Amino acid sequence: MIDITKAHPLAGRRRFLAGLAGLASAPLLAGRGSAAPGAEPELVEARLAAGPARVQLVPSQYPATDVWAYNGQIPGPVLRLRQGDRLRVQVHNALAEGTTVHWHGVRVPNAMDGVPVITQPSIAPDGIFVYEFEPPDAGTFFYHPHQKSYEQVARGLAGALIIEERDPPKVDRDVLWVLGDWRLNRDASVRGGFGSFMDVSHNGRVGNTVTINGRVPEEFRVRAGERIRLRLVNAAVARIVGLEFAGHRPVIIALDGQPVEPHEPDGGVVVLGPAMRADLIVDMTDNPGTRHVVRDGFYQRLAYELIRIAYSDEPPLRSRPDEPVRLPPNPLAEPEVKKAERHEVVFTGGMMGNMRSLPRGMAWAVNGVANGCGDGASAFDPLFVLRKGRSYVLNLVNDTAWHHPIHLHGHSFRVLSRNGAATAHREWLDTVLLAPRERAEIAFVADNPGDWMFHCHVLGHQAFGMMACIRVT
Ligand code: C2O
Ligand code: CU
Repeated sequence: MIDITKAHPLAGRRRFLAGLAGLASAPLLAGRGSAAPGAEPELVEARLAAGPARVQLVPSQYPATDVWAYNGQIPGPVLRLRQGDRLRVQVHNALAEGTTVHWHGVRVPNAMDGVPVITQPSIAPDGIFVYEFEPPDAGTFFYHPHQKSYEQVARGLAGALIIEERDPPKVDRDVLWVLGDWRLNRDASVRGGFGSFMDVSHNGRVGNTVTINGRVPEEFRVRAGERIRLRLVNAAVARIVGLEFAGHRPVIIALDGQPVEPHEPDGGVVVLGPAMRADLIVDMTDNPGTRHVVRDGFYQRLAYELIRIAYSDEPPLRSRPDEPVRLPPNPLAEPEVKKAERHEVVFTGGMMGNMRSLPRGMAWAVNGVANGCGDGASAFDPLFVLRKGRSYVLNLVNDTAWHHPIHLHGHSFRVLSRNGAATAHREWLDTVLLAPRERAEIAFVADNPGDWMFHCHVLGHQAFGMMACIRVT
């Protein structure tokens, strides 16, 4: 437990994120303006309580759903602050089992990383833990438990954390879509069977109901000529999405919170594995009164219409789009690729893999070792010990028949190549999606000391062996 009574230099300027309820429940849009005016950094305080709740996920002719939620809301409240602000979140565990909160993609000090046993004791039922850190990077991030997350996230625990640029690009609306994926029964209750071996040895627990900001969406209302910054967060435990915006040409300006050279996605499809984020600029270039479909076709046989874009009849806001938006860079250390020390990381296992050689109950392995967290967490030896301040290149090899979004805590990394070919944008990510049999080289400076989890974000894969720890010392 950290000492919250110690005065912080920012303690003079404090802001409590009150009325969080209003922010998250505004369907499909979390407006700007939660940050107080003025340029001074602030201490931003919030409270999260993780506990059971009952919410309406599906259309109202169906019953409500018993979930686990932060502050009774699906998704959890939007935590919004500006780069340079400090965040202090008091987390109360109102569940009947231990939990933690992990700030996915945020380069926090190790003690704030929210990994049970490794970085903190798990928060016991009715216990409290205070997280406090200053997020170094502006961007779109999210938070979720790191204990039994294949069940706790699948029951609803996740929320967005938005760090605004000090000088945000000019757009007409800043819109957040937190994508959730649920496996529901006919009565809209959450189906059990978390961590079933069938799921964890295949694609993971892909659900049957996709929500945007906690509701099965119908329409996204826009005005012709509008420029929207669309922040997408894939908060699913297993589902990968491939979004196509018919009639529109979204431009990606950030991935996993980190600015990227603005570009249209390959084939016009925005692909996001679990835990991945993208910031898009979408110019509403069609005519008033028109309608378009946003479709998710990632799993060909499970393609579906996610939401419909509905233009109002109002006249266009502008006749042609403004100049393209480019985000200012975040303060990331540039890896020295030529001098970097190189390591290979091979992911194995899964159905049609070598599962039989693994310890009982395990389905996946990293360099031949299966570390899981099925019933909680335990400490384990690091895969690599890296020297603080040195550059590293990891050659990730997916030697399986399945997709894996591989996430490193505490750092962002550049993706240098895929299957030997240089990437077009050398994007910074914290979670890289590997297709079956794909290889990717990632590079980063190991500049954040501590023991950092390095795992697949299909949370059933993580829990059943696809997890390692990288020590920076
Ligand atoms: Cu999003 Cu190890 O976590
Ligand atoms: Cu995986």
